Amino acid sequence: MTDPLHNEFPADSLEAKDLRHVLHPTTNLKLHHATGPRIQTRAQGVYIWDNQGRQYLEGMAGLWCTALGYGEEELARVAAEQMRTLAYSQLFGGKSNEPSILLAEKLKAMMPFDAGRVFFGLSGSDANDTQVKLMWYYHNAIGKPERKKIISRQRGYHGVTVASGSLTGLPYFHAHFNLPIEGILHTDAPHYYRGAQPGESEAEYVKRLAANLEALIQREGPETIAAFIAEPVMGAGGVIVPPDGYFPAIQAVLDRYGIFLIDDEVICGFGRTGNPFGAQTLAMRPTTVSVAKALSSAYLPISAVVIPEFLYEPMIELSAKMGSFAHGFTYSGHPVCAAVALRTLEIFEERRIFEHVAAISPGFQARLRSYADHPLVGEVRGVGLIGAIELVQDKASRQPFPGKQGVGAYCAGRCEANGLIVRNLGDSLAFCPPLIITEDQVDELFTKFDKAINETLAWVRASA
Ligand SMILES: Cc1ncc(COP(=O)(O)O)c(C=O)c1O
Repeated sequence: MTDPLHNEFPADSLEAKDLRHVLHPTTNLKLHHATGPRIQTRAQGVYIWDNQGRQYLEGMAGLWCTALGYGEEELARVAAEQMRTLAYSQLFGGKSNEPSILLAEKLKAMMPFDAGRVFFGLSGSDANDTQVKLMWYYHNAIGKPERKKIISRQRGYHGVTVASGSLTGLPYFHAHFNLPIEGILHTDAPHYYRGAQPGESEAEYVKRLAANLEALIQREGPETIAAFIAEPVMGAGGVIVPPDGYFPAIQAVLDRYGIFLIDDEVICGFGRTGNPFGAQTLAMRPTTVSVAKALSSAYLPISAVVIPEFLYEPMIELSAKMGSFAHGFTYSGHPVCAAVALRTLEIFEERRIFEHVAAISPGFQARLRSYADHPLVGEVRGVGLIGAIELVQDKASRQPFPGKQGVGAYCAGRCEANGLIVRNLGDSLAFCPPLIITEDQVDELFTKFDKAINETLAWVRASA
């Protein structure tokens, strides 16, 4: 079959085959048919190459995930060794394997709360689905079946499966997919720049958001709410760093009603914000935690849900009554994924990666913030080695560009043309480089970005 929208590539090229065979996730499919794929072929350290031989600095660590960068021999060695020794084993029915056991032990020891048990999955989405199901299962187990609702936030991103996609608070992940499902509620995103009322201080804003959350809980009935889920720093929703005091204010409301806090550390976990976990940077007190992405530095798919022992205990009796705790994946505790994750966590420690992030991120943040005065920039935000630059039509009024103009996408395109991969989330350009990035590479990143943003400014002015 020829491609109905695009036939410029030679029929036997990878580009043409991609256009014929692949359904791309999270992609404008029509635009994709017009432009074709950008095929990546190899990578080393913080650099990645495409099939035209072009080199890019990977300013997004893939999808916020390749923490140790590319070409890490240790992880390749561990994976190959584990494949030869025990390529697959399961955790169903009480079977187990050494990498999963040791990884669970190691993860618990690293957790910023009193961790009890670790459940393994393959993705951030399935981890958050598991979180929802565990909240339901636990409340059924303790005889409180009415406590089922989960509160998430607008602009939060927690995945795309039916439950995690419902937790996600971005309209285009819901529309036409029949989401969200019943029992998932959304409260405010903590974005002062966009959400504050005229004259409202940050402290007043935080107070208002906490009051809004409390009003929602009251409206729904506190006895019906199981948990509140939050990323420490929102990632895909635009890299939103909450104002000072936000999580303590939210936590006080949750505590008043005995509502659990699910901490989605899928992006923030393992050093991204300058501490081992985002919860530590943002003063969260999690009940449970989801991790994925950097857990294996993205070398293999693996996620984990970590819960306290008190949540686990009532599940024991219920599982006995039912004959099984009937939740799990074929690849829960996959030994190769677990071995790679375990080695990743060891490398974080051996090479003092979190300390490296703490040392390098002030310079990274300073470079980011130097764009605050740029004529296209409305807001610069970030913490640790994550950040965003929001482009606006009018700095003073904060007026965004019309969505159709695609200014963020244009700027991301100019970045790529200049050898830098960033991601535009609307008109916010997101930065999330591998944690191993050096000072010189941070400099290179912003030198490339500088050209791109100024080319974008010229384009905006020319098209005005
Ligand atoms: C905070 C957060 N949670 C969950 C997910 C979903 O993870 P996955 O794409 O592995 O399903 C993501 C993905 O970007 C994420 O950023």
